[in-house]
Amino acid sequence: MNAPMSTKPRLFLTRRIPEPGFSLAQEAFIVTGGDEDRPLERDSLLRGVAGADALLCLLTDTVDGAVIDAAGPRLRVISNMAVGFDNIDVPAATERGILVTNTPGVLTDATADLAWALILSVARRVVEGDRMVREGRFEEWSPFLLLGRAVAGATLGIVGMGRIGQAVARRALGWDMRVVYARKSGPLRPEQVPPGARWEHQQDLDDVLRQADIVSLHVPLDAATRHLIGSRELHLMRPGAFLVNTARGPIVDERALVEALAEGHLGGAGLDVYESEPCLAPGLAGLSNVVLLPHLGSATVETRGRMAELAVQNAIAAVNAEPVENAVNPEVLSRMMSPWIDQI
Ligand code: GLV
Repeated sequence: MNAPMSTKPRLFLTRRIPEPGFSLAQEAFIVTGGDEDRPLERDSLLRGVAGADALLCLLTDTVDGAVIDAAGPRLRVISNMAVGFDNIDVPAATERGILVTNTPGVLTDATADLAWALILSVARRVVEGDRMVREGRFEEWSPFLLLGRAVAGATLGIVGMGRIGQAVARRALGWDMRVVYARKSGPLRPEQVPPGARWEHQQDLDDVLRQADIVSLHVPLDAATRHLIGSRELHLMRPGAFLVNTARGPIVDERALVEALAEGHLGGAGLDVYESEPCLAPGLAGLSNVVLLPHLGSATVETRGRMAELAVQNAIAAVNAEPVENAVNPEVLSRMMSPWIDQI
């Protein structure tokens, strides 16, 4: 007797994902791919995705019209295990009626914590100090040794006051900081501002840059935010100010940043993301007043587990035509017809 045909939808996984996401995916789908923790070559992605109902990808995958076409007509959803989705050609997906989802919310605290780790590291020269001690250059205490700048009482500039921007600003309450912020959709409502917080909306990004001692970036990467911070903007920042980027590298013109740091206009920078990741702009790694991390914003066991789980939950909801909370292109939802099972 022939084995009964599986009625599970098919999910193509571009890369290994953490638990409990992986087990959940195996329960709900026939899973292919996901055996290795490295980005797939383009050819393997194009071949692997063929015939999938769902594609679960990561920020290291470029998903464009050709990948969607290679998937074929069963494809319902592209579920990105990331809050950012600049690796996906969303208009190409929308045109083809494919839902795109992301994983917001679950990585807010982890990313805000990392922004603060960079703020404190760069302002207080933590990494320079660590190197000095390890390299045996710490000879004795001195009143002039590795002086940083005060964070408590300083002005924090937040560019992009969404979930993560607000979480960074909330942490600034502990440092008694004034927060100046720019937000695409205007000022926050009063009830969104914690009691006692000094959060001041600025009409113009320039006004944030002119006033802040520390600027932290929290906008998504899109056509409007690519090189949002270039030479002009860096020179609007206060002499000695610090720039922190845990969002996406191309938001900053990295060559211009290296210049502004090398000429001594800025006090330092804390970067978790790079313009041509994982490559660095020439000269960046040679600067002592930068702290450089390898894109660790959401890198905690708890957060990565939740991201993987949520990415799979998004894919499950989409293939079953259930409500999907994290749709990037919700306009597709109204066009999505019956669940995948109708197509068998
Ligand atoms: C990480 O960078 C993310 O977008 O989730």
